Amino acid sequence: MTSSGKQLHLNLFIYPDGHHEAAWRHPDSETDRILDISYYQELAQRAEAAKFDAVFFADGPSLAENIQYAARFRLEPITVMTAIVAATERIGVIGTASTTYTEPYNLARQLSALDHLSKGRAGWNIVTTGAANAALNFGLDAHPLHRDRYERAEEYVDVITKLWDSWEDDAVVADRESGIFADPGKIHRVDHVGKHFRVAGPLNAPRSPQGRPVYVQAGSSEDGRAFAARWAEAIFTAHQTLGSAQEFYADIKHRAQAQGRDPRGLKVLPGISPFIGSTAKEAEDLHQQLNDLTQPGYSLAQLNRLTGVDLSAYDLDGPFPREVIDADEERSEGSRFQLVLDIVEREDPTLRQLCHRLAGARGHRVFTGTPDQVADTIQDWAEHGAADGFNVMPPWLPGGIEVFIDEVVPILRRRGLFRTEYTGRTLRDHLGLARPASQYAPRPTKETA
Ligand SMILES: Cc1cc2nc3c(=O)[nH]c(=O)nc-3n(C[C@H](O)[C@H](O)[C@H](O)COP(=O)(O)O)c2cc1C
Repeated sequence: MTSSGKQLHLNLFIYPDGHHEAAWRHPDSETDRILDISYYQELAQRAEAAKFDAVFFADGPSLAENIQYAARFRLEPITVMTAIVAATERIGVIGTASTTYTEPYNLARQLSALDHLSKGRAGWNIVTTGAANAALNFGLDAHPLHRDRYERAEEYVDVITKLWDSWEDDAVVADRESGIFADPGKIHRVDHVGKHFRVAGPLNAPRSPQGRPVYVQAGSSEDGRAFAARWAEAIFTAHQTLGSAQEFYADIKHRAQAQGRDPRGLKVLPGISPFIGSTAKEAEDLHQQLNDLTQPGYSLAQLNRLTGVDLSAYDLDGPFPREVIDADEERSEGSRFQLVLDIVEREDPTLRQLCHRLAGARGHRVFTGTPDQVADTIQDWAEHGAADGFNVMPPWLPGGIEVFIDEVVPILRRRGLFRTEYTGRTLRDHLGLARPASQYAPRPTKETA
């Protein structure tokens, strides 16, 4: 139990072979299995046995430029999650879907089905899609501007929420005697007409066990924060320092309160990618071992995408060419760019050192240490207003999560910081989130409340 008496939430953030960009070259990685569903089912079963809240899958509807050097392909998350819920009982499944490159009615059906089939374990990571090259796969010449993507996202979530609410919880009657299956009076058209969408509804499936999937979001820019304060129930975020995590945490909780929301109904989960050794030196060596396997071609391509500048002509062992960066230029991933600049300002790294700083987890926090040191830093952030839990990002898989579960989770439990048993069945139960009522259902009166 933290000083504020809360228990932490832990997600396993699954990237095919792990989060370090050279993970697939790690001798213990299982690269030959990353297109085999049993690989993902086993990872989820492992995390479930450790009583994690959820497994999480990122996504983007386009191929990353640097596939040459790393297993950065994407299996469509909802398909993978459906296979995972068939092989698990309690663990939540959170998947990413874009509000820019999908249609609300289709996604409403997919996630409603997943929530039904998982008996209430679905979560949706709402992104506007950072990868600009996705536009070319959807008949567009250019990626919509950041603010336009968020404007569409706002209307998108409004529409899809209406669709998930369009059946009241007791609309299904299923009375064989009378032959009545559903009460049409409790199934509502949504008749949404807006700038981006026109949707009649209702959804063509009953309301799911959680009412709606858990709304997760991962933006950190001004637009991202405003959107999160309005809709998000869990927020994934990337921070290098306690200070920036505390600022984000306080700001997002304050914004939610300003929206009339209870700040406890919004869980903040920074990412942490832990290199764990029996000594700090051993952990450092593990980190260096993977950094030594990086390929400048990959690292620079990632830096180019984040900074919007081609840095491949610069001396890798020279200073980061601060002068070529136009800080005011529109960038598809505003907050991640700022994070890179903060590292440059704070640490004055060479290009190679910066590439290695980002190689671990694309700007999320990489931590090297003993199991106690990892538990200490997790407790520190949780007890100092920086986190309600963490997205655990194993540098390589499956080994990187096995050592965290075997070595760190028992310490967190001894300190009363993490559950020993699930107390509920749904993802909302695990996260301590209320089940939302349908906006079309009659408000409970004193008598019916
Ligand atoms: C933990 C985490 C996971 C993310 N997953 C995705 C993803 O799967 N797909 C995607 O396009 N962007 C993803 N992003 C990027 C965000 O959606 C967003 O573009 C980025 O954080 C920039 O924030 P902004 O939109 O507020 O500028 C992720 C970010 C974080 C912190």
